[in-house]
Amino acid sequence: MTSTTNIIAVGGGKGGIGKSVVCTSLAAGMALSGQRVILVDTDFGASNLHALLGINNPDHGFQDFFNADIIDPETLLLDTGISNLKFISGAGDNPGSANIDSDKVDGIISFIKKLEADTILLDLGPGTNYNGIDFFNISTQGVVLTTPEITSVMKTFSFIRSALFRRISRAFQAYPEVQKMVDHSNPANADTESYSTGLLRSKFKESFPNYAENLNSLINNFKPCLVVNRVRSRKDLMAGDNLRKLIKKFLEVDVNYLGYIIESDQVRDSVDAMVPFLIKDPQSKPSKNLQQIIRTLIDTDLQFIKKDGKIFVAKQACVSSKWEA
Ligand SMILES: Nc1ncnc2c1ncn2[C@@H]1O[C@H](COP(=O)(O)OP(=O)(O)O)[C@@H](O)[C@H]1O
Ligand SMILES: [Mg+2]
Repeated sequence: MTSTTNIIAVGGGKGGIGKSVVCTSLAAGMALSGQRVILVDTDFGASNLHALLGINNPDHGFQDFFNADIIDPETLLLDTGISNLKFISGAGDNPGSANIDSDKVDGIISFIKKLEADTILLDLGPGTNYNGIDFFNISTQGVVLTTPEITSVMKTFSFIRSALFRRISRAFQAYPEVQKMVDHSNPANADTESYSTGLLRSKFKESFPNYAENLNSLINNFKPCLVVNRVRSRKDLMAGDNLRKLIKKFLEVDVNYLGYIIESDQVRDSVDAMVPFLIKDPQSKPSKNLQQIIRTLIDTDLQFIKKDGKIFVAKQACVSSKWEA
């Protein structure tokens, strides 16, 4: 990894909300735009990313990592048939790989950081366990997905709170008494009001006033991005706004809303066809939604067009949004 390598993690509070399908098309889109991209499956429990790329049985994957001490990264990088896009599978025969310990997570994280690419995309497993959160927290752009259902919105709220509280806990690793207070909050299980940053701030003020400023900058520097997937109506679109307000109110965090993707049979059909939906039909509605998301994410005006089975990408830097930000 160089200092300019972008790591984009795609996470969310629940399984089955479209993290893997969106992450795969996102990776394909970034690769087609000319970046060298590596897509990494970090869902060790239920890795299925290879199938979304049309690969039935990956030759190599992180199981090699669990079985051997020294790995040549090149052996794990699989071809995808999409130019500029390589893939690392999370698949494995290792029965213990779903619950890998934190040492292994740290090993994989340092492996990921050594990869050479313009963009590394991490497809995360579901939920708020520390493995997923730790992968999310190494990203330079953390994307959280939700569907419009209230259960998904609440789980995504918990995911974002867990990621923030984990950052705070790690930042205060040298201060067990502070760490205990943050960990004690158990943000994954708590209700919305119980563990807000406001409450944390007041506890800090009382017990650790010297660290209040550190806490402040940790909160201010946390800027997750949000995508609402499987949108079926105008009303569904409100979910993104509601979640953003909830996060602002209870966590004092500004979420960067990237956009939404509609519920569409074209997404499901692309899964059956084992081809990323952006590649299958770049002009479909969900693909156009995704193009908008990519534009916002990389601040470049891209248009994907398919002609005679080939995809062409027109590109233009959006200077305006930089100045508006
Ligand atoms: N926008 C969408 N429209 C229709 N179906 C979708 C959409 N997004 C996801 N799906 C369906 O949901 C399934 C689960 O998606 P997946 O990406 O595997 O979820 P996750 O990675 O969050 O567990 C997909 O196989 C697909 O059929
Ligand atoms: Mg998945």
